[in-house]
Amino acid sequence: MNPRFDDNSITVAIVGCGGFIGSHLFDAVLERTRWRVFGVDLDFYRLQHRLNHERCEFLCADLADPAVVERIAQFPIVVNLAAICTPSRYMGEACEVIRSNYDHPAALAEACARSGAWLVHFSTSEIYGKTAVESGELEEDSTPAVFGPVTASRWSYATAKLLAERFIAGLPGLRWTVVRPFNFVGPYMDFMPGVDGEGIPRVLANFSTALLRGEPLKLVNGGKAKRCFTSVHDAVDFLFALFDAGLGCSLNSGIGAAGASKVGSAPGAGVFSQAFNVGNAENEVSIAELAQKMRAIFAKVRGVDVSTLPEPQAVAGEEYYGAGYDDSMRRMPSVVKAERLLGFRARIPLDTALEESLSWFVKHYSV
Ligand code: UGA
Repeated sequence: MNPRFDDNSITVAIVGCGGFIGSHLFDAVLERTRWRVFGVDLDFYRLQHRLNHERCEFLCADLADPAVVERIAQFPIVVNLAAICTPSRYMGEACEVIRSNYDHPAALAEACARSGAWLVHFSTSEIYGKTAVESGELEEDSTPAVFGPVTASRWSYATAKLLAERFIAGLPGLRWTVVRPFNFVGPYMDFMPGVDGEGIPRVLANFSTALLRGEPLKLVNGGKAKRCFTSVHDAVDFLFALFDAGLGCSLNSGIGAAGASKVGSAPGAGVFSQAFNVGNAENEVSIAELAQKMRAIFAKVRGVDVSTLPEPQAVAGEEYYGAGYDDSMRRMPSVVKAERLLGFRARIPLDTALEESLSWFVKHYSV
């Protein structure tokens, strides 16, 4: 085992450990390291199999409580995944979305700056804003961000996330890394409406639900928007590349001790004070194409002819999500920086990621 991962004095705090990405990271830390994990969330249903694990401690709480924030910041590595990140909520619940994506992470960042913890903050690819169909690769340190008007409350989330990034980057003494996910997919993503959640989940869970219920897949504004879907397993591999590089920079400067200690002057170039895209640029697909791929995979998984499944239907964005819905038309990551600084490149092809996700969904919700 890599000696950095073999070090049982390290505890990583995972805030939002019960969510889709958090639960995959949680499992991977236990499987690939000898670290301890301090998991914080309000719901642990994705981690039932870990609740009695000897290297885990769980706290049922959220970042609205200042005492909880202080406690989390005492660990040497803090990964913050807690967020409201479902577009259907950005319109009707804008204030709650902003609190969850700005106020709470800002308080945690301040506590980490005081304690010396390394904050790995999950932001979003949505901070690139209202990208056009013809937009090219989005680069972390050069692409401008253009949002829609204040009346298009879709952008409440991206605005809060971008402000949180700026706050983190501006905090004196904070050791930070920002991660911008590009449409991660995999088992346990989101929910099935009416079963374990309400409202409209993100597109993968929504299409999976419709397929399972024999309903048409809804193509918002014709399904012309494009996304680069990225396997959650690639995302976890990225985090391990980051941990490895960050701990390599920090051996003499505090991280790795049982508690967080003030970090010295180690530069950590390439890891700290950086934002990273995490995505698979080779997996780009329009949402209309995604719908056809998912129909074909579902037909294969179920052993039925694809022609027996309902055809997708176009629907207007504001009719589907409500007033204030707007969209990014293309979201293609530049992957150069993660490869150059961390040697990371996503590897899992689109069809593999979709088949794993949809097969899991069918099995999980058919029970
Ligand atoms: C969302 C979040 O806002 C981002 O923060 C997050 O980073 C991102 O998901 C992600 O998963 O990484 P978005 O890509 O717009 O952003 O999320 P989806 O709801 O999955 O929508 C993707 C596209 O599919 C959009 O164009 C949407 O209009 C379309 N869509 C969605 C449909 O055509 N039909 C549906 O049933 C659902």
